[in-house]
Amino acid sequence: MSAATGVRHLEAARPTTPGTEPGSPATDVRGPGPAAPPRGTTYAVGRVEEVPPGEGRAFVAGGVQVAVFRLRDGSLHATQAACPHAGGPLADGQTDVDVLVCPLHLYAYRWTDGASTSGAAPIRVYPVHESGGEIVVEV
Ligand code: FES
Repeated sequence: MSAATGVRHLEAARPTTPGTEPGSPATDVRGPGPAAPPRGTTYAVGRVEEVPPGEGRAFVAGGVQVAVFRLRDGSLHATQAACPHAGGPLADGQTDVDVLVCPLHLYAYRWTDGASTSGAAPIRVYPVHESGGEIVVEV
C-alpha cells in the first residue's frame, strides 16, 4: 500500500498503517510499560505550515520524539529529536541542503543517512512526506 493512501488525518499523531489501529493485534500488546511502535508505522504529526521554511519543529510520532525540518526548497526531513552527543535539541539546529547542525556543539549530520560529518555518532533519520497538507513520518 502506498503511504499516501494509508494516511488518516487526525488531530493527534496516530498510527496510519493498517493493522496498527488501537486494539489490533499489532498494537494490543499487554505488559509493563508502553510498547514501541512497530517499525514502519506512519503517523500524521502535524500540518506542514507548522514548520516554517528553513526551520525545524519537534513532534511525537507513535511515542517517538522526532524533529521535522522543512528546507527552503520545500523538502521535508525527519530525524531523532535529541542529538546523540549530549542531547541537544536538533529541531533548533541550523539546516542547509546537505546537513543538519546541532545547536549545542555544532556537530553536523547528513540528511541522507544521519552520519555525522564531524565525528559524532550517527543520528536516526526517518522517512517523511506531505499528504494533504499533513506531515507524515514513518518510525
Ligand atoms: S549536543 Fe549536539 S553536538 Fe553536542
